[in-house]
Amino acid sequence: MESLTRHTDYGNEGLTEAQAGTDPYALLAAWITVAESADIFEPNAMVLSTVGADGSPSSRTVLLKGLNDASSPDVGLEFVTNYLSQKGRALAAHDRVSLLFPWYGLKRQVIVSGRAQRTDAITSDAFFDRRPHGARLAAIASDQSEPVDSRDTLDERMAVLEDQYPEGEHIPRPEKWGAFRVVPDRFEFWAGRSKRFHDRLVFARSETSTGWTVTRLQP
Ligand SMILES: Cc1cc2nc3c(=O)[nH]c(=O)nc-3n(C[C@H](O)[C@H](O)[C@H](O)COP(=O)(O)O)c2cc1C
Repeated sequence: MESLTRHTDYGNEGLTEAQAGTDPYALLAAWITVAESADIFEPNAMVLSTVGADGSPSSRTVLLKGLNDASSPDVGLEFVTNYLSQKGRALAAHDRVSLLFPWYGLKRQVIVSGRAQRTDAITSDAFFDRRPHGARLAAIASDQSEPVDSRDTLDERMAVLEDQYPEGEHIPRPEKWGAFRVVPDRFEFWAGRSKRFHDRLVFARSETSTGWTVTRLQP
């Protein structure tokens, strides 16, 4: 495990206030576009951290499926999941979340904080209908985060659903599955630089103002 003692240089691309601009949605969208062109696997993957009813934190990766900027009535970052999963239950108890985009290959990281709420059913239906056939069936077959006695049990459930809903057949969205939208109140953009002397710019929104204040944090 040579990596534990290695000191990788992070280059000096960094992030200036001028590059960051004044709109955190635009900057996040631009960085996702860079991650896409850099051929990063799942460039829209983000680590969602929640707090359970008992106060325990938990984290897992989900995919960003919608990014609506402040001009949209549905402003926020959207992801889809099972509402009854561990994260779904945590969000029912505590709506505050952290979302972290880990673009190590680009020496970049973005952390978004905000509140998550379920979207309306129409939005969830639209996301569900866009999923490939198999992924729609998997959403029905899986009681996400619940134990199961074997892989065979899951495969048998899938086989039954494949018979019930052949390719091309309308598949209704199960109630347990849908989208969440996180309305951000803070974005932190981190860009690696040499000597571990990195750049960190925070966009924070106050409860009263619609604009964002930009603050540089020490690395
Ligand atoms: C790259 C990647 C993308 C994932 N995308 C999603 C997703 O969009 N939605 C989802 O529910 N789970 C997704 N998962 C699985 C979750 O990380 C997690 O295992 C699952 O949602 C159950 O989490 P929970 O038990 O904490 O609720 C993804 C995992 C990986 C590694």
